[in-house]
Amino acid sequence: MTVITTIEDLRVLAQKRVPRMFYDYADSGSWTEGTYRANESDFQAIKLRQRVAVNMENRSTRTTMIGQSTAMPVAIAPTGLTGMQHADGEILAARAARKFGIPFTLSTMSICSIEDVAQHAGEGFWFQLYVMKDRAFIERLIDRAKAANCGALVLTLDLQILGQRHKDLKNGLSAPPKLTLANMINIASKPRWALGMAGTKRRQFGNIVGHVQGVTDMANLGAWTAQQFDPALNWGDVAWIKARWGGKLILKGIQDVEDARLAVQSGADALIVSNHGGRQLDGAESSIRALPAIVSEVGPAIEVHMDGGIRSGQDVLKARALGARGTYIGRAMLYGLGAMGEEGVSKALEIIHKELDLTMAFCGHTDVETVDKSILLPGTYPA
Ligand code: GLV
Repeated sequence: MTVITTIEDLRVLAQKRVPRMFYDYADSGSWTEGTYRANESDFQAIKLRQRVAVNMENRSTRTTMIGQSTAMPVAIAPTGLTGMQHADGEILAARAARKFGIPFTLSTMSICSIEDVAQHAGEGFWFQLYVMKDRAFIERLIDRAKAANCGALVLTLDLQILGQRHKDLKNGLSAPPKLTLANMINIASKPRWALGMAGTKRRQFGNIVGHVQGVTDMANLGAWTAQQFDPALNWGDVAWIKARWGGKLILKGIQDVEDARLAVQSGADALIVSNHGGRQLDGAESSIRALPAIVSEVGPAIEVHMDGGIRSGQDVLKARALGARGTYIGRAMLYGLGAMGEEGVSKALEIIHKELDLTMAFCGHTDVETVDKSILLPGTYPA
């Protein structure tokens, strides 16, 4: 087997090991996938300034996100169906994050439930909330996150309706997968995945099935989302959610300076510049290009985080240089998980950390807290 040294190595291995419908679910954007691709390629266009003969001893990538100490400015992003990339995926990824000392965010659309992750990977992780029409259920979800001592509520604002992802429709995405002939043939070529799944009971949306009356079959995710998610979600809802939650609140999915202003007014602790990994509004600007204007709009009033396109520690450093206090990795984590379970997530974190640490040093810094725009080559980064 090839020696794994990059996130791309993990992606290739995950593609071999994970059934096509789940691999494709992760590795796709909406419509033309233009924004999905731009999230990555716009990072590549930004160039770094190499500095030499600087003492590079005693380096540190440690920082804080919403006041919480983290080993590097990286958290695990909430990703739906993580437990379908690998059996018990959310528990394994949460454990890897805890060992590394970075925050893990559990998605509402996870396979392992809040309680399950708390029990098997420890309390204190962050919880991502989708708002559904059934407000009593949302109140219960918030209370369940409180009971698990979740360190932050990450409220997603850009998915009241679902961007169309062609591959999911073509593959007939569902969890658990329907046992059609095509799926059975595909799964037969993924013995590692199948063995794991055979050995776990966690194969449905753990936060939802059994917690919402009448919901037993969520198999068709697109149809279920259209039925249950609340298209009326607005800033007034942010206020009652904030009041009900009472803890640290992070707003996810901000792309526009006017929305950033409203996020500040809402009293949230942080916002995440995000286009949902290019999965919602195709044609939207990449996250790294949208970041600087939002940072200058909100100033120190609120922490600005970002996600979208991070595949290396160099990307993390560039985002930090452009004003993101922290970043989130979704696919980079999922590729590790699909490739090698918990060990693969740990590997992804090690890869990113090493790239971040060495690149920071090449740019003449020994502490990530001192990194700013001056490490970037003028004319190559968005202002
Ligand atoms: C859900 O969060 C998705 O992007 O599929």
